[in-house]
Amino acid sequence: MKAVILVGGEGTRLRPLTCTTPKPMLPLVNIPFIEYIIRLLKEHDICDIILSVGYISDIFESCFNDGGHLGVKLTYVVEDKLLGTCGAVKNVESLLGGETFIVFNGDILTNLNIGQLLEYHRAKKAAVTITLTPVEDPTIYGLVPLDNSGRVLEFLEKPSWDEVTTDLINAGTYVIEPEVLRYVPGGENYSFERGLFPALLENRERVFGFHSSAYWLDIGTPEKYLLAHKDILEGKVSLEFIAQEIMSADKQAKSRVWVGKRAKISPEGTIFGPTVIGENAVIESHATIFSHTTIGNNCRISSGTVLEGCVLLDGCRIGEGSVVKNSILGRGLKLGKKVHVEEMVVLGDNMKVGDENHLKRGMKVWPDTEIEKGKIRF
Ligand code: GDD
Ligand code: MG
Repeated sequence: MKAVILVGGEGTRLRPLTCTTPKPMLPLVNIPFIEYIIRLLKEHDICDIILSVGYISDIFESCFNDGGHLGVKLTYVVEDKLLGTCGAVKNVESLLGGETFIVFNGDILTNLNIGQLLEYHRAKKAAVTITLTPVEDPTIYGLVPLDNSGRVLEFLEKPSWDEVTTDLINAGTYVIEPEVLRYVPGGENYSFERGLFPALLENRERVFGFHSSAYWLDIGTPEKYLLAHKDILEGKVSLEFIAQEIMSADKQAKSRVWVGKRAKISPEGTIFGPTVIGENAVIESHATIFSHTTIGNNCRISSGTVLEGCVLLDGCRIGEGSVVKNSILGRGLKLGKKVHVEEMVVLGDNMKVGDENHLKRGMKVWPDTEIEKGKIRF
């Protein structure tokens, strides 16, 4: 069986991080996010994977090549102009070999049991099976009401609250029979959500919903991206990441502090788990790192710094006495001394923030911006 992963979107809600990196390539606990999906497919013996790329397309192939090191075969298909979620699949139809296939949105963190999903699809003799998950706010997803047999009654993308009749939404993973692609116009922008699914329902095709209770998260906003890190660090979703857990000071308990190769941590630094420190990172004396922090590879955290619940991408430099909480810092970013970054701030790659600035309240600053000393205060 082949799989298509949709990774062409621009990831606008995760700007400025996605100004320079497509959402599926953003690191999640220091591994490109999409690698978790590839590994999940591999675990279920789905090794022939097509990546439908568009926005900043080259980066995927230069990172994963043919996929051999992950035990899979990757094929890249580039869209010069975005074709929409379903148009992207129509575009790779000739590579699917006329067999049942699986589609994954490229921003879903899950440990879905794909075996059970396929079994359900076959048992229902479905033309399409849509994986469903319950959420608190269905209005930001695709709402999928079912009848008692699991058949989809309606598909309402981004419904208003008065349309909400269930908490089950489209979890972004589909099993599809190849014949249904005859409904899809070629070479046009066309989506599953507003195009194919409504068309199939109108034509009384067998569309079923598979209610999954697996862990599920769409990582597409800063809040969710931080939550994904937290959940992985807390073991809520059993996914492996590359770092070694160090022993706690009393050598009795697990520290839940995972440290990458060649990282140097001052004995005078204090670290509370769960926390991950990337390869070659340096933590200087009297730095305090509170729980739910992920420090990327090659970062340098200076003395007297406080970090908590934040994500630092690779190559960040944090100046003395700075504080970073509940925020995301892009690659190669330099913070001066006594800078405060708090309350869901997102800073783009290669920014330089001069000493004594205070960045707060959801500020987003684009890559390469330089902020002079003491310019921003709250
Ligand atoms: N190749 C390609 N071409 N990929 C695309 C395109 C395109 O034109 N447009 C979007 N994608 C990819 C994105 O990169 C992403 O991985 C995936 O398709 C879904 O796009 P999002 O932009 O993240 O959609 P969403 O989160 O608002 O809504 C979708 O996902 C929800 C679940 O997270 C819908 O499928 C909803 O119905 C669903 O509930
Ligand atoms: Mg999404």
